[in-house]
Amino acid sequence: MRLKDKVAIVTGGAHGMGEAEVRLFAREGAAVVIADMLTKEGEAVAADIAASQGRARYVQTDVTSERDWERLIAETIAAFGRLDILVNNAGISGSSVGDVDGLDGWNKLLSVNAASVFLGTKHAAAAMIPNGRGSIVNISSIMGFVGSADSHPGYAASKGAVRLYTKAAAAKYGPAGIRVNSVHPGYMPPMLNATNAAGRASKIEATPLRRLGEPIEVAFGVLFLASDEASFVTGTELVIDGGYISQ
Ligand SMILES: NC(=O)c1ccc[n+]([C@@H]2O[C@H](COP(=O)([O-])OP(=O)(O)OC[C@H]3O[C@@H](n4cnc5c(N)ncnc54)[C@H](O)[C@@H]3O)[C@@H](O)[C@H]2O)c1
Repeated sequence: MRLKDKVAIVTGGAHGMGEAEVRLFAREGAAVVIADMLTKEGEAVAADIAASQGRARYVQTDVTSERDWERLIAETIAAFGRLDILVNNAGISGSSVGDVDGLDGWNKLLSVNAASVFLGTKHAAAAMIPNGRGSIVNISSIMGFVGSADSHPGYAASKGAVRLYTKAAAAKYGPAGIRVNSVHPGYMPPMLNATNAAGRASKIEATPLRRLGEPIEVAFGVLFLASDEASFVTGTELVIDGGYISQ
């Protein structure tokens, strides 16, 4: 029970890595709010957790909307009394925005993947400051360190923004007892499912451990940063990539 009595929000928690984090956090004793736009999936995950004696609820949220953030934090505190942990996980891939050189795609990637992290951190920190503690984990990517010609360059730009915004937020909110760290997953499903077989094979070949990752392998790292075990860890980067950016 590494998160006993903690209250957490996980954005993008209805699917993929976010879902793995929600289920792990609930098993470790947290009450978890799933903030996503996928209502059917989010409600199903919350019901599943409740059926096994866990505490979870789904709140429909578009992470690019400041109004939605205000409502999400208010509903979390109304339901569970406080906020201890935010995982800014929601994101979209560089191949989901169409034209790989389009300004619309650039703006969408920066909005969903990066501006959302700024909004969420700002509003969560405001709710955590009265408690004098809190942990915010921002999901960046290996593409926060290196580029790739495979998809819209706005993806790497958005993930690089998350990496350095995290350090600025750690400096800003550290004196209030709030830790802010970034996590950098390597290639894995479900985001990688859209990649063709040849693309997957080349990514496996470029990964020293010679395989794709699994969402639970990221969730364990996020759990550490969210928990009190990481009480002196802030402003840093946890890379979970099978060694991809080590070479
Ligand atoms: N899978 C990978 O290979 C990989 C690698 C590095 C980083 N990441 C990052 O990990 C995170 C999770 O990715 P995943 O692979 O689990 O993908 P996924 O598509 O399964 O999950 C993303 C979730 O975010 C939600 N979401 C998207 N836009 C949203 C919005 N505006 N408001 C609220 N929710 C929204 C989606 O509904 C979905 O549930 C993303 O930030 C992604 O960039 C993934």
